[in-house]
Amino acid sequence: GIKKAKATLLVVGLDNSGKTTLARTIQTFAADAQDEDYSRDQEHVLNVQPTIGFRVEKVESPFSKGLKLNIVDMSGQQCYRELWQTYYEDVQGIMFVVDAADPRRFAEAKDALVSVVNHQELAKKPLIVFSNKMDLRHAGTGSQVAKQVGLNDLSVHLERAWRLQGCSAITGEGVDDGVKWMISQVK
Ligand code: GTP
Ligand code: MG
Repeated sequence: GIKKAKATLLVVGLDNSGKTTLARTIQTFAADAQDEDYSRDQEHVLNVQPTIGFRVEKVESPFSKGLKLNIVDMSGQQCYRELWQTYYEDVQGIMFVVDAADPRRFAEAKDALVSVVNHQELAKKPLIVFSNKMDLRHAGTGSQVAKQVGLNDLSVHLERAWRLQGCSAITGEGVDDGVKWMISQVK
């Protein structure tokens, strides 16, 4: 598509799924790409508190020179989910994070995902579902998570580019591939 200098990405999903950790890992990649010293990294990624409301992180895109990313990291707590839609109009891509190690909340995650993909202001915008916390032994596989959150059924009706990506926001595994894919969709 047309090359944009800036892209805004929305990070949504249930509380505790790992959205802020994911956003910080993307920041880490960005700093890395620019040879910045970030010895505080581990702490930066590990010492995360639940998000109040939302936070916008502005970073140089790690995998695409000259592209700036606004990463809108929303709180997943029920009382803040109403806020997600305030950004729907402004975003180019959606990153939905699922805690793959918390099967008791898959149904709730599915409800949240359904409301996101069905929202008119997000129509046709590319979607990546991060099946997160794959570093935990008891985490479900990507295809199990996809099934549980209804991604297989939804995809038929999505009319958008979408991708399921297993990842660990802590180790960064899979995050790079997911972000590269998203950038290829929005730039
Ligand atoms: P809210 O801001 O409340 O919506 O939560 P969030 O989705 O931003 O989750 P957050 O990034 O705060 O992470 C919640 C907890 O999960 C923290 O203790 C993280 O360290 C942990 N966590 C996040 N990603 C991973 C991961 O990939 N693996 C493991 N093992 N833990 C993770
Ligand atoms: Mg958060």
